[in-house]
Amino acid sequence: MAVKLSKTLKEDRNVSGIDSGLEEYEGRYGSGKLGGLGARQKGYRRFTEIYYDLVTDFYEYGWGKSFHFAPRDPRESFKESLVRHERFLATRLGLEPGMLAADLGCGIGGPMMEIARFSGAKIVGININGYQIERARRHAAEAGLSDRVEFLESDFLDVDAPDESFDAVYGIEATCCAPDKVSIYGEAFRLLKPGGHFANYEYILTDRFDASDPQHLQIKADIELGGGLLEIDDQSTVDEALDTVGFEVVETRDLAIQDESSVPWYEPLAGSGISLTGFRRSWPGRWVTRNSLKLMEAVRLAPAGSTRVADTLELCANGLVDAGRLGIFSPMYFIHARKPG
Ligand SMILES: C[S@@+](CC[C@H](N)C(=O)[O-])C[C@H]1O[C@@H](n2cnc3c(N)ncnc32)[C@H](O)[C@@H]1O
Repeated sequence: MAVKLSKTLKEDRNVSGIDSGLEEYEGRYGSGKLGGLGARQKGYRRFTEIYYDLVTDFYEYGWGKSFHFAPRDPRESFKESLVRHERFLATRLGLEPGMLAADLGCGIGGPMMEIARFSGAKIVGININGYQIERARRHAAEAGLSDRVEFLESDFLDVDAPDESFDAVYGIEATCCAPDKVSIYGEAFRLLKPGGHFANYEYILTDRFDASDPQHLQIKADIELGGGLLEIDDQSTVDEALDTVGFEVVETRDLAIQDESSVPWYEPLAGSGISLTGFRRSWPGRWVTRNSLKLMEAVRLAPAGSTRVADTLELCANGLVDAGRLGIFSPMYFIHARKPG
C-alpha cells in the first residue's frame, strides 16, 4: 500500500528537499528565528507553500481528490458524504449554467470538479501551491472537465482578477489558512458582483474551548502545526469579520453539531477502517503506512524525510480526533453571506 505513496513521492516531485523543507516548516511554526505567530503570519505564503509541498501526496493517498471533512449519514459512504457536503454549498449558492464562481484554496480540484459537474457553472480554482495546481489540472483533464474549470496560481488574499468578476465565491476548509479573517473575507467581497453569494466551511474553536486548559491548548497547537495553520480563530472572530467587511449574513451554523445517529466528522481518522481507502485514513492504516515508509526510507525506496512528514500529519490527526471528541473545534462552521446590491 505505502509502496504506491513512496512511488508518487519519488515520481511527481523534486523530493530531494523533504528533510530540509520540513525543518524550515517546523522552524517557522516553532520559536526559532523565523518562528512565532507574528512571523508566521508575515511569512504565511512561504509557510503554506512548504506545508502543501510536503503533504499533498499524503493527503491524496489517504483522502482522495477532496481534502475536507463532512458530516455523514450512517447509510452513506465516506465518498458520498464528501460529495453531499460539496453539493450543499453549490445549492446554497444557487449555482447554475452560465454562472462563474471562484473556489478559494481549491486543493487538487476534487470539490470544484464535483460542483462544476453538479451545477453546470464554470469554476475558477485559486491556489497558492503550484504542485497542487499541477495535480488539479491533470485530474480535470482526465475527467474531461478542462473546459468547465480553470486554475489560477495565486494567493487568495490578492487575486489577479478585477473587482466584481464572480457571481459566487466559496471556500472549503481553506480560508482557515489565511493570516486573518478580515483580509480573506474582504477579498471574497471584492471579487463578488453586487448581490453575489459567498459560502464557506470555516475552522473554528467552539465555545467549549478553554484557553486556560493546557490540554486544549496542546490540541490546538498540534492541529495547527500538523495542519499547516497559522492560528485557529474562535467563532466570534469569524462572525465579526463577516460584519466588518460588509456582508449580509444569510446563515451561519456549525454543521459538526448533528443528531446522535450521524457519524462524527472525525470518525474517518479515529475508526478502524473497513474499506481499503478507509483503512488508509484510520489509525491502524496510518500506523502501517508510517512503518512501511520508515522501512522504505531505510532502503532508499522512499525519499528521506517521508516518515517525519507522516509523523507531523499524525500529530494533526490525533489532535483532530481529540478536539472532535471534546467538541472544542469544528472544521465545518458553515457561512452563507451576500454582498449587498
Ligand atoms: C485543506 S486544503 C482544502 C483544499 C480544497 N478546498 C478541498 O477541500 O479539497 C487548503 C487549501 O488552501 C490552499 N491555500 C492556503 N493558503 C492559501 C493562500 N494564501 N492562497 C491560495 N490558496 C491557499 C492550500 O494550498 C490548499 O489547497
